[in-house]
Amino acid sequence: MALEENKAFLRRVPLLYSLNEQQIESLAAGSVRRNYPKGRTIVSEGEPSQSLYILLSGRAKVQRSDLEGKEVILAVLGSGDFFGEMSMIDDAPRSASVITLESCDFMSIAKDSFKAMLAQSNEMCMAVMRGLVRRLRDADQKIESLALLDVYGRVARVLMDFSEEIDGERIVRNRLPRQEIAKMIGASREMVSRVMKGLELDGYVVPMSEGRMMLRGKIASWVD
Ligand code: CMP
Repeated sequence: MALEENKAFLRRVPLLYSLNEQQIESLAAGSVRRNYPKGRTIVSEGEPSQSLYILLSGRAKVQRSDLEGKEVILAVLGSGDFFGEMSMIDDAPRSASVITLESCDFMSIAKDSFKAMLAQSNEMCMAVMRGLVRRLRDADQKIESLALLDVYGRVARVLMDFSEEIDGERIVRNRLPRQEIAKMIGASREMVSRVMKGLELDGYVVPMSEGRMMLRGKIASWVD
């Protein structure tokens, strides 16, 4: 039963679309499905790797921290995203920590199964490479923001990145705490609060119920 359920989950993961039935079956045999509550560390920066993870539902942050405990958020992952592939590919320690932002369902795939699948499937190698290239593009954009934008612009870009179009409006649907925005853009929480207040006064951000926000004017149409 667990095997059938695992197969059904794996078939819905974009990274694995190219695998045939037999490949899905052998991957499912080496997979475990888990649920973790909010705030749980799934992989820790610097540790050796055992598994690749696929996020089936919920959101998790990818984070690095320095010796003083200062943290920077590199990315926020959502349903269908995978993580933990980097240390499998280069056999180096985990490059970052991944921590749940809400209750999350994961599929973990053992290192050996993942590597065997990469060796068998050219398409899967391409899918992993596409994921890596997407991250590089996101990282390039982040470097550009840090180098060229002021804090006002950086906050505006984060809001735009996290927004989606709903009924013709740009909405930030998930709660985005100021502390988390601050960790994404290398600013203090107080600074982010001041900027958010300014954006609200200028009418660019309209707070809605349950922490959602509507973006208006120039930040709602910010296209790279
Ligand atoms: P790994 O190094 O095994 O463990 C931490 C994981 O975080 C890493 O693999 C990637 O899957 C993920 N990760 C690291 N850096 C980024 C980033 N800049 N954007 C998205 N995910 C990342």
